[in-house]
Amino acid sequence: METTRKTVLVTGGGSGIGFSIARHFSENGNRVIIVGRNEDKLRRAAAQLKNVTPIACDITNTVAVGELVTTIKADYPDLSILVNNAGQAFVYNLAGNEGAATKAKQEMYTNFFSILELVEGLLPVLEKQPAAAIVNVSSIVSFAPSHKLASYSASKAALHSYTQSLRIALEDSPVKVFELMPPLVDTELSKEIGGAVNGIPPAEVADALLAAMNNDEYEIHVGRTAALYELFRASPAQALEVMNPKMVPVS
Ligand SMILES: NC(=O)c1ccc[n+]([C@@H]2O[C@H](COP(=O)([O-])OP(=O)(O)OC[C@H]3O[C@@H](n4cnc5c(N)ncnc54)[C@H](OP(=O)(O)O)[C@@H]3O)[C@@H](O)[C@H]2O)c1
Repeated sequence: METTRKTVLVTGGGSGIGFSIARHFSENGNRVIIVGRNEDKLRRAAAQLKNVTPIACDITNTVAVGELVTTIKADYPDLSILVNNAGQAFVYNLAGNEGAATKAKQEMYTNFFSILELVEGLLPVLEKQPAAAIVNVSSIVSFAPSHKLASYSASKAALHSYTQSLRIALEDSPVKVFELMPPLVDTELSKEIGGAVNGIPPAEVADALLAAMNNDEYEIHVGRTAALYELFRASPAQALEVMNPKMVPVS
């Protein structure tokens, strides 16, 4: 599908991968709305780009999402691309009594339930356009979990499964459903797991997204995700091992 002269909403567009995606759409001649909780961060991000409007909204708050949907219907009835990028991750030890259930609930709300709510609210707007898209940002861990990111991985697996079903449900509509599956990326979210050293730049992820959208490639395996996905297809057990390498004991 074409990715120019459209109105695009990017959740979590104030930083990291979302900011790079917002930048790419803005540079491609689109009108962009960025959404996040921190209003100052959003304003600073929007000020760096052309034709970008910040709207503060906590996507885990049902009332706030309702208000966002009302604003979009009234002020942006031509919304054509919804990028569900906002995400949250906790790094912890599942065996360490570290509050797994509380952390998992927060992750599931941000990474999964809020997306269903946003899609349900904005689908009537998207369906009115001649060509529209929903992009869900999952992860390399959606098919091979990392035990350090156990409940985050589970939330992305849920998002992956939902995205596959949504694509089938909307097959006969003008709304195409894309899934962006990045590997480790250098952002705030990945600091604790070595993103600054081993992560790819967010711009590489945004490049891959726009190229894939232009070619109607719906499941987007960015960078290292592509090789791990091939390994997963051949041997799920080996892919799991690669994501969870055993520590070599120091002798
Ligand atoms: N970094 C990686 O290695 C990596 C790899 C694979 C997939 N991903 C996925 O890529 C996406 C973007 O992550 P990132 O790495 O760019 O992290 P990031 O820089 O921490 O960005 C996350 C964004 O989400 C927003 N956000 C979080 N909770 C929100 C909420 N409740 N309501 C509204 N906005 C919220 C944050 O803005 P506020 O704080 O202002 O709300 C922030 O702008 C996530 O879905 C993540 O799971 C990341």
